[in-house]
Amino acid sequence: MSSKKDIWRSLSAHQKKMQDIRMGDLFSKDSARAEKFTLSYDALTLDYSKNRITEETRDLLLELLEASGFQEKRAAMFAGERINTTENRAVLHTALRNVAERPVLLDDEDVMPEVIAVWEQMQAFEEAINSGDWTGFSGKRMTDIVNIGIGGSVLGSDMVIDALKDFHTGKLRCHFVTNVDATEINDVMQSLNPETTLFLVASKSFTTQETMANARTARNWLVSHYNGKEEAVADHFVALSTNEDAVKEFGIDTDNMFPFRDWVGGRYSSWSSIGLVTCLMIGFDNFKSLLEGAYMADMHFLKADPAENIPVMLALVGIWYRNFWDAPCYSVVPYFSRLKKLPLWLQQVDMESNGKYVTAAGKIVDTATGPIVFGYPGTDAQHSYFQLMHQGTDMIPADFIGILKPAHTVRAQHDMLMANMLAQAEALMLGQESPNDPARYFPGNRPTNTMLLEKLTPYTLGLLMAVYEHKIFVQGMVWEINSFDQFGVELGKVLADRILGEVAADAAGAHDSSTMELFARCFKKS
Ligand code: F6P
Repeated sequence: MSSKKDIWRSLSAHQKKMQDIRMGDLFSKDSARAEKFTLSYDALTLDYSKNRITEETRDLLLELLEASGFQEKRAAMFAGERINTTENRAVLHTALRNVAERPVLLDDEDVMPEVIAVWEQMQAFEEAINSGDWTGFSGKRMTDIVNIGIGGSVLGSDMVIDALKDFHTGKLRCHFVTNVDATEINDVMQSLNPETTLFLVASKSFTTQETMANARTARNWLVSHYNGKEEAVADHFVALSTNEDAVKEFGIDTDNMFPFRDWVGGRYSSWSSIGLVTCLMIGFDNFKSLLEGAYMADMHFLKADPAENIPVMLALVGIWYRNFWDAPCYSVVPYFSRLKKLPLWLQQVDMESNGKYVTAAGKIVDTATGPIVFGYPGTDAQHSYFQLMHQGTDMIPADFIGILKPAHTVRAQHDMLMANMLAQAEALMLGQESPNDPARYFPGNRPTNTMLLEKLTPYTLGLLMAVYEHKIFVQGMVWEINSFDQFGVELGKVLADRILGEVAADAAGAHDSSTMELFARCFKKS
């Protein structure tokens, strides 16, 4: 086998040959092109034929994958090896959706009994809340959930709950409070009755500044409603966390704690008890279907041949553009408004995972790593940033996601939606000649993947999410970075604490002159 460096060089040379090749011509020359570059698995189809690739490109990228140690590294993740080396942690979110319940050993201990126990705990709680058996301090059933958390402790759940609106039990309303900006929690509290409100404090560490500040504000609001009776907290607060001591210290009874472990990364935690809010909104059976869909994606990722493997091919095509065409970003465009928050979720999973400049071995990388991810639903996005995708100076690859059978019956509009998705991919690829009017010229040759799901259900959403997670894993593996730490978010937190200390002491510390000036303006006592 050639070395990774050699394959990299071959890919660079190949890219030069590909520069003048038009995708439109590749289609004209090969009537089987779409078939050759389409993969189907379960309810998901990926057509990646509208990319600037040939079979040679694919073969070279697959060689790069193998030379990166794909088989061993994938096996290591599923086997619970401590692949998050900087934090010395295993990466086992796949165990959380291991619905086959086969043992998953971590340091010779099977993690599955605990995973299953938490499923049972979540199921019992969901039934108690939705049946009205669980009541608040004054004996009333819960009508509203406020999920307090930030980042990975909310983005997945928020996206899933929005996407699965057609599966809501209809018994509860849910509200997300994330930002330390109290505008958010104030707005939510103003509309709610404390006696019928359940707070879920979702935090892996149970120390995150924003989450703990909001949780304290919520607790004060509740306790002051009950004239200072702290006992009310037990009936209105539950914790989803790994940190039992901090949960106790906050005053939440550990009977009301839904645990998970440090082998679940924050941005991969919506499969854990962090997903309790989802479970309450769509019911436990639907939550389990979400896990089943993800499990099926795990099996596909584990077992399918790399050339037939949807997350692998998505990853390799992404690497092709990021590393060999210098594409700085990619866009994800769900042609389905229920998936409006998918890009927000994906931004964190992708950019927090692969936004790294050092390898797992601590050396500075010599290739570009994670791309900038952004997106918005089609057709809205067409009237926003698609101008730049069609005629801007950068190539921005995009993933289009379509749902074949919507829950509504307004067929004519669904046809319009799908027609737009196909038309945009075609326009991006073919472009338009305009000899006498450069402003109307479209360069074309701009790539897209199209993913189709039969329907949007808990199961298919789980499948789609896990496919993206594995895509990101594969890219991080090829780039040799640790996709599972996030030290880049730490420095700002430390400096914010320092500034807060200075505000409390009413004395700015030593800062640059800009920060000093701004400090004086922001914290002026008047
Ligand atoms: O943004 C950094 C981060 O650590 C994320 O990875 C995590 O999802 C989020 O903060 C919230 O952390 P926690 O769940 O510990 O409150």
